[in-house]
Amino acid sequence: MENNFDLVIIGSGPGGYVCAIRAAQLGLKVACVESRKTLGGTCLNVGCIPSKSLLNSSEIYYKAQKEFNNLGIEISNLKLNLNKMMNNKNKSVMTLTKGIEFLFKKNKVTHLKGIGSIKSKDTVMVLDESGKKTNYKAKNIVIGTGSIPSSLPGIKIDEKTIVSSTGALSFEKIPKELVVIGGGYIGLELSSVWSRLGSKVTVIEFLDHILPGMDKDISSEFLKILQKQGIQFKLDSKVTKVQSSKSNAVVDFTNKKTSKQEKIECEKVLVAVGRKANIGKDISSIGIKINKQQKIQVNDKFQTSIKNIFAIGDAIDKGPMLAHKAEEEGIAVAEIIAGQAGHVNYNVIPAVIYTSPEVATVGKTENQIKEEGINYKIGKFPFLANSRAKVNSETEGFVKIIVDQKTDKVLGVSMINAMAGTMIAELALAMEFGASAEDIARTCHAHPTHSEAVKEAAMAVDKRPIHF
Ligand code: NAI
Repeated sequence: MENNFDLVIIGSGPGGYVCAIRAAQLGLKVACVESRKTLGGTCLNVGCIPSKSLLNSSEIYYKAQKEFNNLGIEISNLKLNLNKMMNNKNKSVMTLTKGIEFLFKKNKVTHLKGIGSIKSKDTVMVLDESGKKTNYKAKNIVIGTGSIPSSLPGIKIDEKTIVSSTGALSFEKIPKELVVIGGGYIGLELSSVWSRLGSKVTVIEFLDHILPGMDKDISSEFLKILQKQGIQFKLDSKVTKVQSSKSNAVVDFTNKKTSKQEKIECEKVLVAVGRKANIGKDISSIGIKINKQQKIQVNDKFQTSIKNIFAIGDAIDKGPMLAHKAEEEGIAVAEIIAGQAGHVNYNVIPAVIYTSPEVATVGKTENQIKEEGINYKIGKFPFLANSRAKVNSETEGFVKIIVDQKTDKVLGVSMINAMAGTMIAELALAMEFGASAEDIARTCHAHPTHSEAVKEAAMAVDKRPIHF
């Protein structure tokens, strides 16, 4: 009886642990298998959480150097203690991973420690640290095994000189030069961290713009902002070789337009060219279907090709690879397994880049809307005209709202601003409720706040902003 569960979840990332708690709330007997020593998956251990800690600390350090003086805060002998900064990061990670342990106990979720593999449609085997194998019976199985960093052909990540995000979150000293391959989420967040702490950072991006998939206005404006902060960019560039020794590396790359070949010598190289689904051999050997991109195929109930085996998060062929998308799926799948109508609205998944300023989007980009042949209107408002942003010297960026020309319904929002990551929630909620720009324009926003720029952008759709 002890080894029998209604639901066994493999992986305790934001998808898996949230699914476990929701399923337990709904009265299911739940176990969650995790191979890492601590719960929380990539996000809590080596992703979202530690990176946000370093982004926060490095931003304060950078401001203390560059901006405090203007505010009348004079500091002499400002010193950076990287070791302490890293310890603070580790403490945040520990507190949050322990928090999930507590939530598991509170909700009576069994935490199975070891590597889980699916032996048959109702059996999960757990291999623990001592080498002991135990089989658990499961009426339902949820795969939430997440993703792992991708690399490029011929480039081997050693987590010392050539690192993935994991290595770049734990450098023991500030690299003199850091070359970042890939100008996406990870590349830009970690470029910001190390550039603020003193590294000379060069981002090499394959495409002619950063942040592919985001609104073009966002990527061009954000590029200028990051360049102003001292980060160098080599766009349209293909990395052809990375040679490394213990203490340094040489990165060779070619400009795709001019064919000019260049090389950069540096102390560290961060490879941030995307992530791939983390799928064990057991998945295909028991017959679960995987698509061409090597992701698990699921239907709208998150069922794999085996009916009682479900999958969520980065490992599946749906939605962006984002922690909060996985959480939504974790809740939905738990509710579906418990006989309820779980659902995820993939049209309204916000995305945030936690740089300074932050970048945040929800819904469709202007390009997507154009491609779909929808007639649209745009309302744009710059933070230069927002009083609170001015007071705080945070005037970079804008809010851009795109609406259906006929119905005025909000189709997508993109913004750059110090508070964008928090502000985007208002727009996600508006879109969930099917709001029009007029609805937002007629909603009272507190003054003085950055959020007034959202109201003004909504008013700008109808060409009637007050402050611009
Ligand atoms: P990404 O997909 O965001 O960006 C990868 C970048 O690498 C793209 O700009 C791409 O054009 C470029 N690239 C690909 N091949 C290249 C090559 N050969 N040479 C130069 N550039 C090349 O992937 P990233 O940054 O590795 O992040 C992985 C995942 O983690 C993302 O899907 C993201 O959703 C997630 N993530 C989310 C964060 C957040 O929500 N703030 C933070 C960090 C990661």
